[in-house]
Amino acid sequence: MSETVSIELQPLGRRFEVARGTALQDVLFAHGVEFPCGGHGRCKGCRVRVVAGELPITAKEREVLNTSEIAAGWRLACCGRADGDLTLDIGQWEETILADNSQFAFTPKDGLGVAVDLGTTTLVAQLVDRQTGRVLAVESALNPQAAYGADIMSRVQFGVEPAGREKLRDLIRTAIGGMVERLQREAGDGGTIQRVAIVGNTVMHHLFCGLDVTPLSIVPFETDHAGLQSFTAADLGWHALPSHSRIDFLPALGSFVGSDILAGVLATRLHESDAPVGLVDLGTNGEIVVGNRERMLCASTAAGPAFEGARISMGMRAATGAISEVRVKGDTLTCHVIGNTAPRGICGSGLVDAVAAGLELGTIQPTGRLADGAKEWVLAEPVRLTQGDIRELQLAKAAIHAGIGLLIEQWGIQPRELSTLYIAGAFGNYINLTSARRIGLIDFDLDRVRVVGNTALLGAKMALFDEDANQYAGLLGKIDHVPLASDAKFMDAYVDAMTFPENRSER
Ligand code: FES
Repeated sequence: MSETVSIELQPLGRRFEVARGTALQDVLFAHGVEFPCGGHGRCKGCRVRVVAGELPITAKEREVLNTSEIAAGWRLACCGRADGDLTLDIGQWEETILADNSQFAFTPKDGLGVAVDLGTTTLVAQLVDRQTGRVLAVESALNPQAAYGADIMSRVQFGVEPAGREKLRDLIRTAIGGMVERLQREAGDGGTIQRVAIVGNTVMHHLFCGLDVTPLSIVPFETDHAGLQSFTAADLGWHALPSHSRIDFLPALGSFVGSDILAGVLATRLHESDAPVGLVDLGTNGEIVVGNRERMLCASTAAGPAFEGARISMGMRAATGAISEVRVKGDTLTCHVIGNTAPRGICGSGLVDAVAAGLELGTIQPTGRLADGAKEWVLAEPVRLTQGDIRELQLAKAAIHAGIGLLIEQWGIQPRELSTLYIAGAFGNYINLTSARRIGLIDFDLDRVRVVGNTALLGAKMALFDEDANQYAGLLGKIDHVPLASDAKFMDAYVDAMTFPENRSER
């Protein structure tokens, strides 16, 4: 009998070999499967479906799964071992990776470059020909540090201890080094990678660079080491590249406004604009910049995980089975489900749409309360919104709304004077702007709002063409960080923004 068995994952089409008897939990985590109860067989959150092969049913699974689920092939990944070849459907964990194919101006340089968007959850790297500016290949992966905490603060807590910091540093350097190596292999004889530009939030910056994250774990969450950090391939042990190849982690703008936002400024050319413009990256941590070529203000605001479908009773990522769009036709709701399959949850864009639809129908009142004292609202069986879900969205949208409003006010203009609001990032790429405006997440007429995709990656690509290590100093000198959390005006604006607008008004 062979010592190894093969596992194929659908719909990704990935196949790999593992030692016979390997616990599925040990191998599936790296492919995005989550284990919410820590693998104790209690939460059912790690369900996978057996498409081919045998996974015997355990007593725990009989307690947690019902008979029709078992008959349909559902099993708990935390209970299973690979004792034979298996094909598993893990479609609900599929991650949507937002890459970038925008055109940009550049001065040609020799060799190849790699731009990396180092996210808390996902990693994306693009191989760029520095002669033509063309993207030659893309690699994506999950951030392996997630095994030590899904959210950024638990990552910080783990990294406060020197051993934890070293572990997280080595994990991320190895993961990105592996992606760069695969990209170099894909390039073949087409050239060697001379430059790598990495962007990410300030915690990712510190962890990659091996810097102490303790200042980011305690009030006032300030760090003195968020500047540009440069390495050679030899420093990082990335032996697939020439030893002198330069790897830059771009500087952050503040403790919780990372170089991904600096890249956004570069990508949108905000720093060259005469008129005041805004840039907002919607996520667990909403990051905002307002300004023009002379002066900019930046801030971050804790929006919570609602936009990512987390802490929502039936929330999930934008993957197969997620309701991603909700429309009202007459008195009827129409829900679009990713993968055109039966709904099993709702993702962030679906949540924004659903609440906007509820406001239109009068099912949700401007206070956020469900009408007639209802506790929940069924969107499409079995997916429903609870009062708590609506509350989570109110918290998230109020934080963003208040943050943008306060930066505009501090910059010294009225909201109507902002010429453009750029919306960056994966969530911003998929939300329906009319719905976002209906719930008061953004409060501008839509012809001034532009969705700009993954500006972090675009800005990192642009950085591959700049050789001057001091190029950012002038730009950083024009940007001031505004600590919203300690601003009394922000709290007032935040509370005011909790309710939903009754009617839209142009601003
Ligand atoms: S992780 Fe909770 S049941 Fe498997």
